[in-house]
Amino acid sequence: MDLTREIAKRKTFAIISHPDAGKTTLTEKFLLFGGAIQTAGAVKSNKIRKTATSDFMEIEKQRGISVATSVMGFEYKGRRVNILDTPGHKDFAEDTYRTLTAVDSVILVVDCVKGVEAQTERLMEVCSMRHTPVIIFINKMDREGRNPFELLDEIEEKLQIQVRPLTWPISQGQTFKGVYNMYNKELNLFEANATKISASLIKIKSPDDPELLKWIPESFCEKLNEDIDLIEGVYEPFSEDLYRDGLLAPVFFGSAINNFGVQELLDTFIQIAPSPHEREAAQRTVIASEEALTGFVFKIHANLDPNHRDRTAFFRICSGKFERNKFYLHTRLGKKIRFSSPTQFMANEKSVIDEAWPGDVIGLYDNGSLKIGDTLTEGEDLQFRGIPSFSPEIFKVLENRDPLKTKQLDKGIRQLTEEGVAQLFIQYGSRKIVGTVGELQFDVIKFRLEHEYGAQCDFLPLRYHKAFWITSDNKEQLQEFIRRKSNAIALDREDHPVFLAESEWMLKVAREDYPELEFHATSEFK
Ligand code: G4P
Repeated sequence: MDLTREIAKRKTFAIISHPDAGKTTLTEKFLLFGGAIQTAGAVKSNKIRKTATSDFMEIEKQRGISVATSVMGFEYKGRRVNILDTPGHKDFAEDTYRTLTAVDSVILVVDCVKGVEAQTERLMEVCSMRHTPVIIFINKMDREGRNPFELLDEIEEKLQIQVRPLTWPISQGQTFKGVYNMYNKELNLFEANATKISASLIKIKSPDDPELLKWIPESFCEKLNEDIDLIEGVYEPFSEDLYRDGLLAPVFFGSAINNFGVQELLDTFIQIAPSPHEREAAQRTVIASEEALTGFVFKIHANLDPNHRDRTAFFRICSGKFERNKFYLHTRLGKKIRFSSPTQFMANEKSVIDEAWPGDVIGLYDNGSLKIGDTLTEGEDLQFRGIPSFSPEIFKVLENRDPLKTKQLDKGIRQLTEEGVAQLFIQYGSRKIVGTVGELQFDVIKFRLEHEYGAQCDFLPLRYHKAFWITSDNKEQLQEFIRRKSNAIALDREDHPVFLAESEWMLKVAREDYPELEFHATSEFK
């Protein structure tokens, strides 16, 4: 059957890392192996071309970071690989967290010199929370980095996950030669090449093969054999089940820039990574192979051309087949809508498609009716879960600088928060508090309000530390808390009350004083 076949073909995932670990380079190398691009450097140069034509993207150019999340699809060895790109900069972490709701697995890149970094830990926390299967790629092995065993220990300890190496480096630093593939039990050595894929120099089955000595010194072969013996002795055999349950992370070593260890990673990835399976909706669990279409919006992207103020909603298909021009139910609005030009992203090309399958991410033209988290179905009343808002870390009051433009400002801030650029909380009925993960978003908001909506604003800092969504079965206690703490209470976009705590200590006191209240760190709770 078409549906089952298409589902089995698909691998939808994200490559994530602390900035500079090599996420972009690895993405490019995957695209090279997939034949989606011919020379590396294309992804970056595409970013630069965009910045030349759009003011908003000027920010990205100036700051040298990737603001937008994009999707890149390609065919590889009979599979359809969908890579969801995520911004590396920590100020856009929330965007990354949301993208992680739309993937079936992730590849986490770690720099072998720096080891586990701050953003690596936070991203891993998000993956663990959702039991997302994680593969770890330890990059830059061509540098004098840390000892591989030491890195594995650090990963286990800091990321709180059991690891199992599936490839192993042959030497390290300047003498790094490539990796032995313990999963497929084979060894390929490649010539270092930053922009292209070259044929492998040798292809052998065992590290004991004398052929290997033509390419690497005997001492390297001995060390490799010793290390492999040690690994097989110390680590349990790889379990695909534990990996798929998010309990065990297979580890690969390599150098993305030199193409070392990349093919081993990609080939094993397409074998072991999960295809679309099931997803939790508020009402029930949806299985990918169900005939009826379901899916949800996880990102809204404003058109970067100021002459066309439309938006693209990124829609992840969870079950069934999506068809162009067919009417679907927008469950939040209870309204039927259809899409005449849904788009898909193959490498750098965007094209209109007639159909799409579970695991695919398509772009839907949106004139303002779609929000992050919205579900589309063929008629069933469903709402997908797992697209929570996380507490912002910086809070500021939005002040209008031009009273004649109040309407524009209101519309602008509403639309920008719907896109997920920031969260909006309303206090005392009208005071607008904008919450973000990083300072950079305030620059983005100011810039976009001015350039896209003609509104001018200031942001006044507030001392809040975090937002906690509050619920309770004891409605009286909830009401009393809201009344007493009115200067620290605001409403989110769904009108849910939120406690803006000035410190962890304030939260602790509130918890003690109001034991029947529940304080949630994300907007989604049962
Ligand atoms: P990111 O998306 O995770 O932020 O990282 P990105 O791929 O942009 O890589 C960050 C830097 O690390 C880049 O250097 C890149 O060339 C380098 N890099 C990536 N993989 C490897 C590797 O395997 N070995 C070594 N030695 N370096 C690697 P840059 O100087 O910041 O940028 P560029 O001018 O080279 O593009």
